Amino acid sequence: MAEQGSEQALMQKVVSLCKRRGFVFQSSEIYGGLKSAYDYGPLGVELKRNLMNEWWSAMVHQREDIVGLDASIIMHPDVWRSSGHVANFSDPLVDCKVCGERFRADKAPKVAAGEAATITLGDKERARLALEKLERTEGAKLERRGKELLGARTGDRGYVCPNCGSPFLSEERQFNTMFRSSLGPVDPIGRVIEAAKAAVAEGLEDAALRKRVDEVLNESTVYLRPETAQAMFVQFLNIQQSMSLKPPFGIAQMGKSFRNEVTVEHFIFRSCEFEQMEMEFFVPPGEGPKWLDYWKEERLRWWKAVGLAGDNLRLRQHGPDELAHYSNGCFDVEYKFPWGWDELEGIASRTDYDLKAHTTGSGKKLIYNDVEAADPETGQKGWKYVPHVIEPAAGATRGVLALMCEAYAEEPGGEDGKGERNLLKLHPRLAPYKAAVLPLVKRDGMPEVARRIAEAFFSAGVKARYDEQHAIGKRYARHDEIGTPYCLTVDSQTSEDDTVTIRYRDSRRQERIKVADALSVVQNALLSTGAQPL
Ligand code: GAP
Repeated sequence: MAEQGSEQALMQKVVSLCKRRGFVFQSSEIYGGLKSAYDYGPLGVELKRNLMNEWWSAMVHQREDIVGLDASIIMHPDVWRSSGHVANFSDPLVDCKVCGERFRADKAPKVAAGEAATITLGDKERARLALEKLERTEGAKLERRGKELLGARTGDRGYVCPNCGSPFLSEERQFNTMFRSSLGPVDPIGRVIEAAKAAVAEGLEDAALRKRVDEVLNESTVYLRPETAQAMFVQFLNIQQSMSLKPPFGIAQMGKSFRNEVTVEHFIFRSCEFEQMEMEFFVPPGEGPKWLDYWKEERLRWWKAVGLAGDNLRLRQHGPDELAHYSNGCFDVEYKFPWGWDELEGIASRTDYDLKAHTTGSGKKLIYNDVEAADPETGQKGWKYVPHVIEPAAGATRGVLALMCEAYAEEPGGEDGKGERNLLKLHPRLAPYKAAVLPLVKRDGMPEVARRIAEAFFSAGVKARYDEQHAIGKRYARHDEIGTPYCLTVDSQTSEDDTVTIRYRDSRRQERIKVADALSVVQNALLSTGAQPL
């Protein structure tokens, strides 16, 4: 990652570049924007698809033990009951009684019980009002110093408000983060009103009233999937049987997931609509630890290969207190984002929990019958077992942000006359444009030759840009900033010897190649597996 001074400044520069150059826009911006929703513009959609295609290629095309799936986003609601998402997929929400901030308890700053807590408000007046309110409502005797309130102590919750540092907090409430909708032609509101009226007439209140309304809603409730994973468990049998697969084998899927996140943060890092790249690897019982070890290394290797090659990537093992009750091992691939280390992908050993849960929920036995192996318990030939699962689950949209942060660089002007510039050192295969084709000037037949070269790229399906606007230096700068790895320039020598210059983004090195070789030179460079073949 570039040496930038403040890390916050790096984030601001990346966000600004994303908008200025057409990578990522705020959703519905002309209407004031929608919180935590983003649109991937002409260059962003290329980068995201290139990343996801690399994942698909590595997971599905370059291996024989993994097959793909593209399941519907809306699934039978019982899927989410069996998986535990309806009951458990929730965040603990807390309101701060001082500043009103609503936050996730598990994401709040941790503090030991009984510590001194300083509450910091926006200004003196707010601090004065908060002091009065806390005395009135909480009986707290605090002292004000400027915009700070002193004298409070942390309770035994283990956290304080992330906004003002207050330990005066509401009870935790569980908030289900699945988006709910209703399926069918009849709007459920009418039925809800009828049911609510009847319930009130019966004298039902609060929890009982809510339960009744929930029952009515549930008749048509469906959920937007909060992860792509469940479809792979639900379709385990269809896929295993139709493709005659024997564990160990995997099912891979990538696509949109939706979570009504309480805390949306850091641009596209945590949003309500995002894309995942998940793979469920089904293995015989007993082989989980071996495959967890394999996949954690393999996934780390892959992220390095697509360009996160520096010191900004690490594996972090989950402590026992972080593991889900059904998991017996989990590693996160973490990236050092501008705000610190954070999760890019989780690689979890999920035991046989998911297939068993859907067997119970659906009544269909999700097992594998290995007719050749002996059952370890009986010693008899024919072993029927519930496969165990290792799940590498990565965020594609998070991956885009990590790649942008990693690739962003600023180079000062040098004594050799090279001007200062910003560039995106993206892996050439991930770059939105693979090549820019540039006539040096708009005359002397140069545009015609450049057009012919560009057409060759278009016909081959290699994303290129014909660009004749502005002086050549400005065009190089524009393409450096969006990560175009190769610039092909048609100049006055071209008409003499049928050559063009190829300029390499990272080194700015230039050499002459034959016009006829332009496409194959770029294609060969793209086939290279190295992250920076420049
Ligand atoms: N099936 C397991 C699962 O979904 P997860 O850790 O909740 O596990 C996997 O999600 C990955 O999906 C995360 O590592 C992260 O990269 C991405 N992800 C999760 N929630 C996200 C959000 N709200 N916005 C963007 N990416 C998210």
